[in-house]
Order: sequence, then C-alpha cells, then structure tokens
Amino acid sequence: MCGIVGYIGEQQAYPVLIKGLHRLEYRGYDSAGVSMITPQGDLHVYKATGKVSALEEKCAPEDTTGTIGIAHTRWATHGEPNTVNAHPHRSESGNLSLVHNGIIENYKTLRAMLEKKGYSFSSETDTEVLVQLIEFTQKNEKCDLFTAVQRALKNVVGAYAIAILEKEHPDRIVCARKGSPLVIGVGTDARGHREFYIGSDATPIIEYTNQVIYLKDEEIALMTRNSDLPEIINLANVHQTPEMHTLQLSLDELEKGGYPHFMLKEIWEQPNALRTCIQGRVHVQAKDVRLSGIVEHREKFLNARRIIICACGTSWHSALIGKYFIEEAAQIPVEVEYASEFRYRNPVIYPDDIVIAVSQSGETADTLAAIQLAEQKGAFLYGICNVIGSSIARATHSGTYIHVGPEIGVASTKAFTGQVVTLCLLGLAIAKEKHTLSDEMFHLLVDELQSIPDKIQWTLEHNQNIDQFAQMFTYCRNFLFLGRGYNYPVALEGALKLKEISYIHAEGYPAAEMKHGPIALVDGEMPCVFIAPKRGMYDKVVSNIQEIKSRKGKIISVVTEGDKTVSDMSDYTFVIPDTRDCFVPLLAVVPLQLLSYYVATAKGRNVDQPRNLAKSVTVE
Ligand code: F6R
Repeated sequence: MCGIVGYIGEQQAYPVLIKGLHRLEYRGYDSAGVSMITPQGDLHVYKATGKVSALEEKCAPEDTTGTIGIAHTRWATHGEPNTVNAHPHRSESGNLSLVHNGIIENYKTLRAMLEKKGYSFSSETDTEVLVQLIEFTQKNEKCDLFTAVQRALKNVVGAYAIAILEKEHPDRIVCARKGSPLVIGVGTDARGHREFYIGSDATPIIEYTNQVIYLKDEEIALMTRNSDLPEIINLANVHQTPEMHTLQLSLDELEKGGYPHFMLKEIWEQPNALRTCIQGRVHVQAKDVRLSGIVEHREKFLNARRIIICACGTSWHSALIGKYFIEEAAQIPVEVEYASEFRYRNPVIYPDDIVIAVSQSGETADTLAAIQLAEQKGAFLYGICNVIGSSIARATHSGTYIHVGPEIGVASTKAFTGQVVTLCLLGLAIAKEKHTLSDEMFHLLVDELQSIPDKIQWTLEHNQNIDQFAQMFTYCRNFLFLGRGYNYPVALEGALKLKEISYIHAEGYPAAEMKHGPIALVDGEMPCVFIAPKRGMYDKVVSNIQEIKSRKGKIISVVTEGDKTVSDMSDYTFVIPDTRDCFVPLLAVVPLQLLSYYVATAKGRNVDQPRNLAKSVTVE
C-alpha cells in the first residue's frame, strides 16, 4: 500500500507534498520520495529510506521550490526498501519522473523489450519499467505525454495508480489508474487560482478542498495549470466528463477508510487482502500453485526430513493450522514451536530440516533469535512475513511475503488469514512437487482456496448484528473457546483476540480436552464459543456442546449456513459458508474477530492500541 501525493497550482508545492506524505504514513512506509520542477525549470528527485522525516532532512531547500510536484511513500512489493527502489523513478533522459502504487505483472517482459531498445535500469522495480516505457512511447510515437501515457498503458498488465511530471512541460501533471485508487482534488487558492491535488486517497487533499474526482479504472487525466478541470480520456480513447463529488468525511475517518478503528477496517479488508496474497501464486488456467521460494529451492523441500515453524502469538496460531495442512497435503512432519521457548532450548536440528519463521512484522525479537539459532545448526531458513525487507525477511534464505498490506491495529487480523493462506499455498506447492496429492484433490483445493475471499466477504455481510449481540457479553469475566482439528487453533486465536483487546480472560481449548479440567469452570455465567462447522468431527463437537449445555453454559457457535442441530442447541450462532475442513479457519475466525472487536468497543477499550501491547515486539 503505497501513498501518492501531487500538486499543481500557484502555491509552493513542497509543503503540500510533505504534509500529504505524513498524512499517508498510516498506510505503511519503508521509504519516501519527492520530485519537483523548480522555477528555473530543473526537475529534482529526492528519496530516503524510512520515514518521511528522513526525506525532509535530505531535501535541499533550493531544489524544492516551485508550484508543481509529486511525492510518494512506499510499501515495497518489488525489490528491497532502499533509496534506489524508492519512488519517484526517472526516465532514461531525465525528462520524466513518476510515482506508482500497484503491481505491474508483465514488467519483466516490458523490461526485456526496453533493454533491447537500449534502455538501462538502475532499480529492481516494476515502476522504473513503467516510466521508461512511457518515455519510449513518447519518443517512438512522437506524441505528447498525455497520449504517450495512454498508449503505453495499453501494453501494461497489472494494477497501477500513477502520477507523472515532465521537465519540458512544467505546467502539467498526468495521472492514471487501474486497480489502485487515485483521487483528484479540485480547489481554488486564496487569490482565486485553480489548483489540483492528487492523492491515493483523499487524506492528503481534504484540508484544501472537499471537491474531488475519483478517477475510474483505465482513465488517464491531464491537469494543466490554470485550466478549470482535468481532461480525462480512457484506454479505449473515449473522452470522459469529470464527475465532481463532495467529500463528507473527516480526516480521521478517511485515514481509517470511514471505519471507526483500524482493526475493523483490517477485518473488512480481508477479502481483498487475500486476493492480493493469492494473486500471481495460483495460476488459474494451469491450475498450478507456484511460490518462487519453492521453485528456487525445490531440492531442499523435496528432501526435507522435517519442517519446524517458529512464531509467536497470532502467528503461532496460523503456524499450527499450517502444520495440519502441510502434514496432510505434503506428508512432511511439521513441528510448531513458540520462538521464545525454542531459542532457549538446545533443540535437535538436522541439516535437512527446514525452519520456517512466521511473523507479520518480521521484527519479533524471539522469532529472529530462533532462526538465528537454527541457522547456526545448519538449517535452511524460510520466512513468511508481511513487512517487506524486515529483519526476518532478510535473515532467511528464502521466503514468501503474505502481501496483505500494512496492519496498523495491534490485534492481528488480516495478517492471520494472510499467513494461513500463505502456509496453505506453501503446502500445495510442495505437494505438487512431491506428488502427494492426486491431481483431482489438488485442483479441488486450489479452486476452493480461490473462493475463500468471496466466502469471507459473505461471512462479513451475514454477521452484521454481532455488534448488538456483543453488548450482552461485556459483563463476562471469562470466556471459553472450543474447537477440534483445524478449528482448535481458531479457538486459540478467538480467545487471544478477545483477551488482548477487551481484557476479558479467555481460554482456547481442543473441545474434547474440556472434560479433563476446564469443564469445572462452566456455569450459567460462562459463555462457551464452539467452532462447529458441518464438516469433519461435527458429531463429536455436537456431543461436546451437549456436555456444556447440561451444565447451563451459554453456547455461542460458529456454524455452517443451513445448520440446524447446533443452531438449535445454541444461544447464539454465527454463520459461515461451507468450505473444506482445512479452509474453515479462514472463515470461522472472522466472526470471532468481530465478536472481540464489538465486545471491546462496547467496554470502551482502545482496540487499536490495547494497554501494554506493541505492534512489533522487538524486545524479548
Ligand atoms: C495478537 C498479535 C500478537 C502477534 C505476535 C507476533 O493479535 O498481534 O500476538 O501475533 O506478537 O508478532 P509477529 O507476527 O509480528 O511476529
């Protein structure tokens, strides 16, 4: 999730751009950059890794004067987060500078074509390919920038929101979008001059104007100084009339996309986040799953005697689901370790072991130390992280990013489902190489996995009354979460979510273990949440529910749509669509995330920043 800002008007652009970048920092950042055309006609580009403040320290005041500019905060997708890969990128001649949000899927093909034409590249990014392609088109077809952008984009496969400056024409900015959002703010300065703002969302714009145009997919816009409105054309060459909208939201609401908290936003982002996670890894036509890490280290995975997964907290729960799946699909024994325990034991590690670190932040001190220990003992290290270029991502020999975008809320939600999906993709990719699944089963699982984002959307839409229901449970001092098989880790995760943000004590247990102790806690005051899909051990879970019911415990259950038996036994049910056993956690966890969220907000808790917790635990 990168952030774009742009300005053309009569004010000094630099302060607008920097303020806009600060406003967009909530989207995550690993580097930032700015490009301006000065009154002398020079086009300057400044970039820095880290926060926007690092960029400010670098920019020379004389190069940041002028009334036109673009800027960017980057959340790396291609290439490490360093200054070379940061945006804006310049074209070969230096005439163009461009910022980009999105992923160009065919950038390798385009790059090879441009290299044959004599273009060279200094970064690993798909964005540099885009700016060179536009310059190439402009020169080759002898056209203006607006036309060149439109023609070049016809050859591009992927998602983009872009904004471009042209040194030779310091009176215009061109921008375009497909797949990634882009908003144009239309304002008037104190002296009555027209000015245009560009933002990847309205947060950098709202304080200047509430009049905006949401660029539509495949539209290209030209903003010329002193023109009244942008000129818009689409990829099919049809001129479009700009549609003006009035923003109704406050700045705070905008950063959270209209949601009251990041956590709720991130829960609702899951369908799209998982689509991004799956995209490019599942090849629909060939019904194949390809992870570059597995392709590059095929022999390691084929010959692995054992996989050890090290993680903490929520990531440990996703690892447990990963264990069940990888053992089932790829027939490799998997051990899941608390990184904090593993690092201080003297674990037996064989050279043909693979040690996988699962970590959203990629910075968790215990997980990092666990893999460092494993490396000393000769293991091959694989990372499953969200934050690109994080310490764990760098410390491992190979890995897969979950690509769910920045997670700001301290309670992990979309990273959990992203990790589970990635571990399932890993299991499928290994199974494919090892032929441990029949073709038919492999295809069934691949198809089903692809339907999960839609099924999560369904789950979100069909459980909207959890907020009212949650009010009834704010008085509770304890909760039990129970599940079997793949749903035991979901019970653990449900309990963790509730306790960390509502401060209600909660425990997750394998449902059958309950009668070995925890059942003593059950009385009419104790809500017991059962994950009871109509799959796998359904009948056994029904018996476990009976046992609680006969002790007057309150039953809340997660059931498959259309279920009657468990629903009739429950005081309250959350519905999920049917799916294969192994993917139930991806759906069942969603109502539990919402339950925790609404119980916590009803109790007035700070859900995004619960007490005593930090998003990235860099100390042990
Ligand atoms: C719970 C939560 C934590 C993290 C844990 C590991 O909602 O977020 O339990 O899962 O601190 O963090 P990462 O995944 O960054 O290693």
